[in-house]
Amino acid sequence: MMTYLKKVKRKLVALRDRAKVRSEAMRAFRYDREQFMSNAGALHLDRKSAARAEIVMGYHVLEKGLTMPRRRLGFGKGAVVHLVNLVESFERRFGAGDSQVRHAVGVLRAYRDLHRNWPEPMPRLDAFLAERPDVPAAKEPHVSRAEFFAARDAPFPLFAASRHVVRHFAGPVPRDTIESAVALAITAPSACNRQYARVHALDDPILRDRLFAAQGGTRGFGSDADKVLVVTADLSSVRWGWERHDCYVNGGIFVMNLCYALHYFGVAHCILHWSVSPETDRAVHGFLGIPSNEAIVQVIACGMPPDEFDVAASPRLSATDVLAWHGGGK
Ligand SMILES: Cc1cc2nc3c(=O)[nH]c(=O)nc-3n(C[C@H](O)[C@H](O)[C@H](O)COP(=O)(O)O)c2cc1C
Repeated sequence: MMTYLKKVKRKLVALRDRAKVRSEAMRAFRYDREQFMSNAGALHLDRKSAARAEIVMGYHVLEKGLTMPRRRLGFGKGAVVHLVNLVESFERRFGAGDSQVRHAVGVLRAYRDLHRNWPEPMPRLDAFLAERPDVPAAKEPHVSRAEFFAARDAPFPLFAASRHVVRHFAGPVPRDTIESAVALAITAPSACNRQYARVHALDDPILRDRLFAAQGGTRGFGSDADKVLVVTADLSSVRWGWERHDCYVNGGIFVMNLCYALHYFGVAHCILHWSVSPETDRAVHGFLGIPSNEAIVQVIACGMPPDEFDVAASPRLSATDVLAWHGGGK
């Protein structure tokens, strides 16, 4: 009798928990949608941070162009004009002096310097730069492999500062190096130690090209990548509705650890977004054979680096831009 009652009680608790998760998830996703619609930069470009983000994306395109393998002069003409317009509009509304906007001007000057012998005139860009003579050309580091990995065994501040994505790949990465990097990356923390992350390693150029065609962020360098890591997070490890972001939070922490591990093992790698439509996400799950309970979090292109290569400067905000104290302590 007791066992029967216990079984009924367990079933009732399970039913109650399922109802709770369903209701939490409905409320949580509604809240996410409202928060997104009210704040996403793309819908609120009048805000300073949104306008700055658009400029950073604009200079990033040109920085990538400046540091790409097999760079061809004359690239990004439309991107240049777009960025000039964005900077002028930003300065009109919010004033000059923002460090990221100044870097955009520096990137435009580096672009112009590179094109000093280009036959087509660039009057719009020249006039824009002439009005901002105090901003020097941005420097995109050109490094040897030894220089780039010199801080592999250095204390953490030097090691962390030396990591950058690399879009130059010149050779195969041994499978056991990837295995060592993943073994190191699993030291990443996760909520309740649930260890959501999984890694699907592609070692096949046909799958790589199909994935990159769907992803869309590897033009000019993707076909040089030797291995591709698709980091996923197991939705089955999510327990409650309020944990709806857990795959991406825990997966993201794992990705960062994996990038440090790849850097430690001397593997050039470039993190790639997974901002794709539901149709693309479903199709990629299908052709890679990734089970539907694994949410794709990020993709990482890997290869061994050439002897010398360019790295995009990608300057950071300062800690004072990022850190906000709440409270009166010291
Ligand atoms: C979530 C995420 C998505 C990214 N997506 C791409 C991408 O699709 N293509 C690409 O070339 N770089 C991509 N990157 C690399 C960033 O451009 C790069 O990390 C950033 O500019 C900072 O430079 P750093 O990593 O060299 O310090 C991505 C990085 C992150 C973290």
